[in-house]
Amino acid sequence: MSQLKIGLIGNGSISESHLLAYQSNPKAQIIAICDLNESRAQAGAKKFNAPHVYTDYRDLLANPEIDAISICTWNNSHAEISIAALEAGKHVLCEKPLCKTVDEALQVEAAVRRTGKLLQVGYVRRHASNISVLKKFIDNGDLGEIYFAKASLTRRLGNPGGWFADKERSGGGPLIDIGVHVIDLCWYLMGKPKVKSVSGNTYNKLGNRSNVENYDFYKASDFDASLNTVEDMANAMIRFENGASLMVDVSFTLHAKQDSASINVYGDKGGAEIEPTLSIATEKHNTIINIEPQITTPGFDFQGAFQNEINHYIDSCLGIIETNSPVEDGVEIIKILNAIYESAATGREIHF
Ligand SMILES: NC(=O)c1ccc[n+]([C@@H]2O[C@H](COP(=O)([O-])OP(=O)(O)OC[C@H]3O[C@@H](n4cnc5c(N)ncnc54)[C@H](O)[C@@H]3O)[C@@H](O)[C@H]2O)c1
Repeated sequence: MSQLKIGLIGNGSISESHLLAYQSNPKAQIIAICDLNESRAQAGAKKFNAPHVYTDYRDLLANPEIDAISICTWNNSHAEISIAALEAGKHVLCEKPLCKTVDEALQVEAAVRRTGKLLQVGYVRRHASNISVLKKFIDNGDLGEIYFAKASLTRRLGNPGGWFADKERSGGGPLIDIGVHVIDLCWYLMGKPKVKSVSGNTYNKLGNRSNVENYDFYKASDFDASLNTVEDMANAMIRFENGASLMVDVSFTLHAKQDSASINVYGDKGGAEIEPTLSIATEKHNTIINIEPQITTPGFDFQGAFQNEINHYIDSCLGIIETNSPVEDGVEIIKILNAIYESAATGREIHF
């Protein structure tokens, strides 16, 4: 098989990035689109020349032509659709987070084992070209042993509302929505150490601040000012068995002067800052030096990273390479996220 036939489930905002990337990959052909919202699915199918349109994902999975799917639905359906797809003999690219709970994650992992099909978790930040560059430096020992990482993604005003603000459908707020990206990225760059304990805090102090005037922010299509059951902000300290630690803080809203993003990893031979552009700090001949890699995209190139992610998925489905984001990595990150929520709820450190 040289060309994979693709079905996409959940034709909302992020699906466009998947579909554009499949369209640009000669080894893939988009043949089916499904969304609960039929007109949305119809519009996507028309734009991307997909002959089949569905409103029930089970009908899409029953199409024997489809080899591989992308799941771009709300988080509460990721596990159910992943398991059904694997059972139907399809490969799966599941958007982050893998699902909402550890129980669900273990069920998805069991389905991967049972069916022998591939499940790649949509950790798109791993596929940014500046991360591939940094990974080469790390794998060659230039940072030495990474013992500390620090990630912060804070929005001053940016609770998208809609399903993002509905804990039932999302599983939580900024921690599970944007924290998942940076916790995963740091954990991946640190060499995926085994987690030892987690201590976290979540805050519901400011709400969605729908009262704020004269300041625009992204709103989900089903934004409803009266619905918000998720945290405003979260922070955590994650300890690993090898002694390394990761500090994280994320917010949908905060009385901060501006939005901010920083993702840093520190080793005993060098450190790297990833936001806004990749730079490395180290020491040579008793002198501290900063290295600024001269690369085409030193920052996070959103669509470029999606293209790399989809290319990686296609080649993994075809058996050309092994995915770098297997189901096990989905399970580990869900364990960490759930433990942060549990620690915040109980006021105690969670030990694994
Ligand atoms: N990797 C990234 O950078 C990134 C960015 C944004 C969103 N996401 C993830 O992508 C997913 C979708 O987010 P979005 O921003 O596109 O949301 P969205 O609300 O814009 O789109 C979701 C779509 O899924 C459809 N849907 C929901 N449940 C369905 C079901 N059971 N069957 C069929 N269709 C269903 C909805 O009708 C909607 O059209 C989420 O899991 C989110 O965490 C990832």
